[in-house]
Amino acid sequence: MKHYVKMAASAIALTCATAAFAEPQAEVLHYWTSGGEAKSVAVLQQEFADNGGTWIDMPVAGGGGDAAMTALRARVLSGNAPTAVQLKGPAIQEWYEEGVLADISAVAEAEGWADVLPASIAGHMKCDDIWCAAPVNVHRVDWIWANADVLEANGITMPTTWDEFNAAAEKLQAAGITPLAHGGQAWQDATVFEAVALGILGPDGFRKAFVDLDMDTLKSDGMVAVFDQMRTLRGYVDDNFSGRDWNLATAMVINGEAGFQIMGDWAKGEFIAAGKVPGDDFLCLSTPGDGFLYNVDSFAMFDVDGADKKAGQELLAKLTVGKNFQKVFNLNKGSIPARTDVDLADFDSCAHLSSDDMSASADNGSLLPSYAHGMALRGAQAGAITDVVTAHFNSDMSSADAVQMLADAVANSM
Ligand code: BGC
Repeated sequence: MKHYVKMAASAIALTCATAAFAEPQAEVLHYWTSGGEAKSVAVLQQEFADNGGTWIDMPVAGGGGDAAMTALRARVLSGNAPTAVQLKGPAIQEWYEEGVLADISAVAEAEGWADVLPASIAGHMKCDDIWCAAPVNVHRVDWIWANADVLEANGITMPTTWDEFNAAAEKLQAAGITPLAHGGQAWQDATVFEAVALGILGPDGFRKAFVDLDMDTLKSDGMVAVFDQMRTLRGYVDDNFSGRDWNLATAMVINGEAGFQIMGDWAKGEFIAAGKVPGDDFLCLSTPGDGFLYNVDSFAMFDVDGADKKAGQELLAKLTVGKNFQKVFNLNKGSIPARTDVDLADFDSCAHLSSDDMSASADNGSLLPSYAHGMALRGAQAGAITDVVTAHFNSDMSSADAVQMLADAVANSM
């Protein structure tokens, strides 16, 4: 017995010694590869290094993260998961159900996350009753970005209805300017589609369609009108839009080649990285209609072996939700902090609008998860919707046919 206790004691001593000497290490899979994104993630890399960590970067280019998710699946299937992964929404839960996520509750509790995160965000970071992800930010998806000089030169103010948007676009087209900078990639089509849907269906209709998958709403006249507006927008895109990356579309607005872009506020990160000033060089306004579509980036930690990697996960989780990182990262990224106690004094007018609208939407029930950015639905269901959106946008399919196809695709995905 004595011998056993002694053995156990030395085992504990050994474990503690290993933990004490563990050098935090993290292989981080993410898809932040554009100019603004790279600047943002560099903030975390620096902070990680300053705290003794070794960051092994695994960037997988591709806006919206589709390519990154394919790379993740391959790594997990081969039994070699990365230490930390940029993941969000229901995908976090899906990986948890596969039994491959680590429990980061000890960090979350020590750092008091429950006290500084809004319940809506904390809910996405929990799997059953453990913390399984660390939130980075809150991106808003339903934004219009515009080149201020182009609008002024053409006597246009920021549109507050879709009719106003269409009228402004016609003016720009007549002046030889591409009205809408867009990249023909499925996730970008879905991004525009959900902003249009929020405006036309309203927050309740959006929730019914893309959170509850309510068949009546999916097949409604309102949804026909959403596809009608998508067809109209298709006419405002230039001939070379197919396959274009989102940040190259943002660059078209930055250099005045195009008037508008409908995109989440990671686009603001590109304007900022290019030295542009909101309200002066570029304008931001939420897309027409009520409500707020949120998209929360986070890091989920995968179950990995080795004291160094576990120490890396703890350090990364702690720094990610730390006040300094939440401020500096989001100043670069275009988003706002997930923490509620970060001073926004240094943030610009677009960030203030986002923060104010988010609080108002939370109060009146119109704060909604983005379907296009993986916050509302499981992968198969979101994918089924996006396939229809893209098929419609890239053909002459009628709105009525698109609505029928949408209802069938959703029914088959359940
Ligand atoms: C992510 C952002 C990213 C954007 C473009 C979104 O889904 O949440 O962090 O900047 O895609 O890749």
